[in-house]
Amino acid sequence: MQDPKFIKSPKKSPLILTIVVLFFLMVSGVYICSIRLWQISPRTNAKFLNIKALDQQQQQQCQAPDIEQWEAPLIHFPNPKTFNREECVCNPVRYFAIFSMQRSGSGWFETLLNSHINVSSNGEIFGLRDRRSNISSILETLDRVYNLDWFSSASKNECSAAIGFKWMLNQGVMQHHKDIVEYFKKNGVSAIFLFRKNLLRRTISLLANAYDKDVRPLNGTHKSHVHSSAEVSSA
Ligand SMILES: *[C@@H]1O[C@H](CO)[C@@H](O)[C@H](O)[C@H]1NC(C)=O
Ligand SMILES: *[C@@H]1O[C@H](CO)[C@@H](O)[C@H](O)[C@H]1NC(C)=O
Ligand SMILES: *[C@@H]1O[C@H](CO)[C@@H](O)[C@H](O)[C@H]1NC(C)=O
Repeated sequence: MQDPKFIKSPKKSPLILTIVVLFFLMVSGVYICSIRLWQISPRTNAKFLNIKALDQQQQQQCQAPDIEQWEAPLIHFPNPKTFNREECVCNPVRYFAIFSMQRSGSGWFETLLNSHINVSSNGEIFGLRDRRSNISSILETLDRVYNLDWFSSASKNECSAAIGFKWMLNQGVMQHHKDIVEYFKKNGVSAIFLFRKNLLRRTISLLANAYDKDVRPLNGTHKSHVHSSAEVSSA
């Protein structure tokens, strides 16, 4: 009768002791962890900052070979937010904008540019009224385009060597010209002015386009720019 009791009690106490010790270990573990995390967090920030600084250094280490000194402000190494430029990270990128007026051949010119594997011209991105309603919206859009974060059917992404778009003078250019010029100077954007020399032809094109709009729709919709001979022949 006494034997089992004697055996039971020492068996019980180590179990309780183990539980207590485990509990203590757990609590102290959590405590130590939280303290270490709290101590580490500023250091982790510093680490991130270092990585960022390194990134910038790497960007500065990218050097375009054999360029003239005057060209240097026009050469960029953008760091897109939406993807990695990978093997092309040190390929220099040039920024451009084509200023033009409707019916001046800018659509044709853009198609020509986009036929090059390293050139992306993103079309009339300020055709949308919302995007050009105020200067902050315009600058934000420009930032995205030139950081290679703008996606259109023309985007070449990683290995783009020249990036730009088409901007009609009546799409907010005249209202905000001061800020736009300042942005272009600060960010080394080249402005390409494309105007039709023969104003009579432009006027004829305007009138013909207005006429076509009502009379000769292409597959049910009006198309103001034709980009291939197939489109021309079916028009
Ligand atoms: C600028 O325009 C955008 C888009 O229309 C709008 O969301 C934003 O609030 C406007 N900002 C200012 C400062 O008016
Ligand atoms: C042009 O693109 C090709 C392939 O996408 C790439 O290999 C090449 O380095 C690019 N050239 C320039 C000048 O960026
Ligand atoms: C017009 O529509 C037809 C059939 O839907 C298509 O095969 C053709 O490519 C279209 N043409 C143009 C110019 O979009």
